[in-house]
Parts: sequence; structure tokens; C-alpha cells
Amino acid sequence: MKIWIVKTPVEGANKGVAMIQQTLKDCHEQVVFGLATGGTPQTLYRLLSASQLDFSRCIAINLDEYVGLDQENPQSYAYYMNRHLFSKKPFQQTFIPNGMNRNATVETQRYDQILDRYPIDLQILGLGQNGHIGFNEPGTPFESTTHEVQLTESTIAANARFFAQSTDVPRSAYSMGIKSIMAAKQIIIMAYGKAKAAAVKKLVLGPVTTAVPASILQQHPNVTLIVDEAAADQIK
Ligand code: F6R
Repeated sequence: MKIWIVKTPVEGANKGVAMIQQTLKDCHEQVVFGLATGGTPQTLYRLLSASQLDFSRCIAINLDEYVGLDQENPQSYAYYMNRHLFSKKPFQQTFIPNGMNRNATVETQRYDQILDRYPIDLQILGLGQNGHIGFNEPGTPFESTTHEVQLTESTIAANARFFAQSTDVPRSAYSMGIKSIMAAKQIIIMAYGKAKAAAVKKLVLGPVTTAVPASILQQHPNVTLIVDEAAADQIK
């Protein structure tokens, strides 16, 4: 795992932009990006939106979506992606789980077919305080594919800041599985702030265990971790 300790999230996002630019240069055909939402990648998306990069030959496949929120709901991840990136940088095609499909079997199979059809070249990840990646909460099997997740209290509390009140946070989500994340050719995982320090330590130095989903990234051949000083506090 390559580790970049940066001074600010802007410096980290610039590093991410450079790596995305390199991926676009290296792949002459269609490029498939796996994308995350949440607070962490917002600066990256802002810089990408302001850049000269062209994503018209790119496919975007998002990690996850809340069950029960449609794309018009400002808290949905579909809305987030349109707001922060897709409205400014058109992609050839974008995919995100359909939170309005209450048939989890149908929806998760549909998403796995998309992932089979478009292998991910570069996956962008954030890191949950409890070590989750995507919405793969502690205990999720490493072999998991797309599935419906019951969100933990820790994740609901962490995400409540995006909602009027914590009771508004949906209790479940559809998430790409850990197996699909690990199938990406290259992964960038970013984490900023002291609230992420313990999870970063377990990701980098801890045993590889389903109790810390991100720890499996130690076994991926091409991962770059971008962290600020506060998040890197326990690995220095
Ligand atoms: C979001 C996602 C989550 C977040 C993680 C960190 O699509 O998959 O794993 O990346 O919860 O969230 P932030 O960046 O808000 O701290």
C-alpha cells in the first residue's frame, strides 16, 4: 500500500486528480471509475469539475445508495453525484443502485451484472470511522457482492450530519460488496481528520479481519492511501 500524508484535503484531492488524469492517459478505450460519496471526496469532485479532464468516454459506478431515497431527494447519493460531479462533467454512462427498488434480490443482481460488464479501472473510496468501505459494515464477508445492508448505529450517527435529524437517516442501503471493490485494478482510499485515525491504523497495521472491512485492502496489489496528518496520527 502506498501512503501519502498530505497537509490538507485539497492537497490530497490534487493528488487524486493527478492519479485520475494518469488513468485516463493509460487507458485508451473506455475507462471505468468506481465512485464514493460522503464528505471525503467532495474536494476531489470540486477539483475534477473545475479541471479540463474529459469523462465523455468514462463509465461511473457508484458504491452505494440508501434504500427508500429517490434521486430527487437531496440526501440520496444519486442527487449528491449529480450535484457534485455529473452535472458538471458528463460521463458516457453512470450507475448507482436504485434505492427505490424494494426488491433487494432483483436490485442487487442487476448491480452485479453491471459490475461484471464494466470491470473497474480505478475505485475511489472513503473510510468509515468503524472501518467500513462502501456500506460494508464490520462483519461483512470479504466474498460479498452487492447486497442490502442494515446500517450500524455508528454509521447512522456519523451520517446524521447530512440529515435534519438522525431519525431521518435510512436504516438500510444497497452496497457494492467487498469482493467487487477488491476486483478494481487500482484503488485510492482517502481519510481526513482525527475521527478517522483509529480506523486508518487498523486499515494499515491491523490484522486482516472482517471486523475491519478496510483491512482487506492490505491484500490488494495497487492501493494508494491519502491521509492528512490528523488521520495519520496513529501510523506515524
Ligand atoms: C459513501 C461510502 C462510505 C463513505 C464513508 C466515509 O459512498 O461508501 O463508505 O466513504 O462512510 O464517509 P465520509 O467521507 O462522509 O466521512
